[in-house]
Amino acid sequence: MTLCLCFLIPMAATGIGNTNTIFGQKQKLDIQRQLKRLNKPALKSIKSPDGDIIDCVHIKNQPAFDHPFFKNHTIQMRPSFHPEGLSFDDVSSKSESQITQLWHLNGRCPEETIPIRRTKEEDLLRASSVANYGRNKYPQFYTTDTNETAFSENAIVFVNGDKYYGTKVTINAWKPQIQEQDEFSTSQLWILGGNATTEMNSIVAGWMKQTNQTRGCYNLLCSPGFVQINKEIVLGGSLKPISVYNGSQYELHFLVWKDIKGGGDWWLQIGNKYLMGYWPASLFVSLSESASQIQWGGLVLNQQKNGQHTSTQMGSGHFPEEGFSRASYFTNLQIIDGSNILRFPKKSYIVAAKPNCYNVTNFINNFYYGGPGRNPNCP
Ligand SMILES: *[C@@H]1O[C@H](CO)[C@@H](O)[C@H](O)[C@H]1NC(C)=O
Ligand SMILES: *[C@@H]1O[C@H](CO)[C@@H](O)[C@H](O)[C@H]1NC(C)=O
Ligand SMILES: *[C@@H]1O[C@H](CO)[C@@H](O)[C@H](O)[C@H]1NC(C)=O
Ligand SMILES: *[C@@H]1O[C@H](CO)[C@@H](O)[C@H](O)[C@H]1NC(C)=O
Ligand SMILES: *[C@@H]1O[C@H](CO)[C@@H](O)[C@H](O)[C@H]1NC(C)=O
Ligand SMILES: *[C@@H]1O[C@H](CO)[C@@H](O)[C@H](O)[C@H]1NC(C)=O
Repeated sequence: MTLCLCFLIPMAATGIGNTNTIFGQKQKLDIQRQLKRLNKPALKSIKSPDGDIIDCVHIKNQPAFDHPFFKNHTIQMRPSFHPEGLSFDDVSSKSESQITQLWHLNGRCPEETIPIRRTKEEDLLRASSVANYGRNKYPQFYTTDTNETAFSENAIVFVNGDKYYGTKVTINAWKPQIQEQDEFSTSQLWILGGNATTEMNSIVAGWMKQTNQTRGCYNLLCSPGFVQINKEIVLGGSLKPISVYNGSQYELHFLVWKDIKGGGDWWLQIGNKYLMGYWPASLFVSLSESASQIQWGGLVLNQQKNGQHTSTQMGSGHFPEEGFSRASYFTNLQIIDGSNILRFPKKSYIVAAKPNCYNVTNFINNFYYGGPGRNPNCP
């Protein structure tokens, strides 16, 4: 069981990338060829105690660049400004809130490389058997196709009605239990552009909990598009520590902003000092200028096994009423508006698809969200 740090761009709307091109032809799956293509030559490989192998791949050789879309792409090593007015030397030299991943115990990646979890044969076999969920049921609950989205249940806070250029938020870290192997539970932020009548683009960043059956979110769900520059954090790798019910609480900051003074790319920073990389501006149609909506919260894929709601948890698995240290929270919700400064939103709204299963309680800049899934009120 791992907690993933995932980054997604459902790009169906842009027509640029199909997340599942790799796994589209189940019958013809040529595992060895695929592995060779996915696993780039490593300058160094590190064995993680959990069995994963982390390859330190040259930054210019990262899998995202296989896509023809990146043919002429010049890699950006830093954005032109930081929304908190910091210099990037200040950011990278911050010593607090070190993020550790298990593989760090056995080594670090050298300069000019990025760490990538090596894809194994069984990841591909699993991925191909669950490819349909990646394609059909992944979180586009905001689209108009209700059939695709029937099983995605959210409990979120959102802002809209303005032009947004980014967000910062602190997310409480939990490890929700997942009942079925092809379900997932995420705690994340969404940056959305366009609307139901135009092309909808989105950026998603946050935690994703999957079962080990669906591991490999990096390949399956986290479509190519994100250019990583950070050599310390593996996307899709598990993070520690995790909060304890009625005990110690852990949290992580996420900051996404559009580099409107530079190339227009959308940059991601995790924690106080990890500049992770960016989604190139040119990937997007409706996010090319600004975002029209920002959402924060949880999303669960409920497979409704045997006609019953599953007991897959969202957040801590406890309802918002339980409050601090028992219910999961997002805090310090901030947005970046046209002034390029982080601000608290003036007004925000809530949506809970099935409040008896997963609910959300908003206090403007902070909220609690989550729930246990199946219970007497959520049969
Ligand atoms: C790359 O540059 C060439 C020459 O300028 C151009 O013809 C081509 O369309 C570009 N490809 C992409 C994917 O932008
Ligand atoms: C959605 O699913 C229902 C029941 O399976 C079916 O009758 C309907 O045609 C579907 N709608 C679309 C738009 O696919
Ligand atoms: C969707 O976006 C387009 C372009 O920004 C706008 O003209 C249209 O009014 C929007 N539609 C809705 C329903 O908000
Ligand atoms: C999934 O995890 C369980 C418990 O850790 C383990 O017993 C099982 O072998 C794992 N399955 C696969 C396919 O890795
Ligand atoms: C939470 O912890 C406190 C102090 O350790 C204890 O008194 C209380 O019973 C616990 N509550 C629950 C619901 O576990
Ligand atoms: C969900 O939370 C809201 C407050 O945000 C509350 O008014 C509502 O009663 C809750 N719903 C359920 C079913 O608990």
